[in-house]
Amino acid sequence: MEKNKVLIVYGTRYGATKSTVEEIARVLQEEDYDVKIVNVKEEKVRTIAEFELVIIGSGMRMERWVSKVEGFLKKYNEELKKKKVAIFVSSGGLALMEYKGELEEIERVTKKYLEDKSSKYALHPISMTMFGGVWDYNQMSKIFIKFLEAERENFIAAGFKETEPGVYDTRNWDDIRNWTRELIEKVRM
Ligand SMILES: Cc1cc2nc3c(=O)[nH]c(=O)nc-3n(C[C@H](O)[C@H](O)[C@H](O)COP(=O)(O)O)c2cc1C
Repeated sequence: MEKNKVLIVYGTRYGATKSTVEEIARVLQEEDYDVKIVNVKEEKVRTIAEFELVIIGSGMRMERWVSKVEGFLKKYNEELKKKKVAIFVSSGGLALMEYKGELEEIERVTKKYLEDKSSKYALHPISMTMFGGVWDYNQMSKIFIKFLEAERENFIAAGFKETEPGVYDTRNWDDIRNWTRELIEKVRM
């Protein structure tokens, strides 16, 4: 029997969304899905017709999606409206907001990063979420290093150790796996 197909379309600037997508794909494959992954900066999406589910993921920078991921939402908008769609973003800011208890800020960015975006394209995703991201001080401009220097203490206090010198990964891999498993249940409903 042919396997059900899932398309994951994503965009990344610092690499976190790529490895998050790989983990999502691993869980889907364990559940016997045939998964195609497209990095929009490297490859064009040719068709979405054959996929039962389309997962769309973008890294955040200055509160903006990767523009080519948004380009995909525009180009395939009519088809996406008729599909099962799930959306996630990689937000480096989330863990800090959680650590500082900034609930209103979490609400604001959830609306801006996810709800406003799906409304803009008239999509009704079966699931939307925010995962953590990576802060790589080696890849930042001097201005940002200065701006974010004070946050290092918060990363450490919040329990995020350096994964490499200057790199803090704020993702919770269990959250990523659990979200994917719940998504599979929703698709099968
Ligand atoms: C210059 C800069 C700006 C950022 N702006 C935001 C932001 O507005 N909101 C947010 O949640 N995270 C922000 N981040 C953290 C990123 O979301 C994090 O690095 C994440 O891993 C990005 O996804 P990517 O690695 O797939 O590109 C920013 C990071 C940098 C270096």
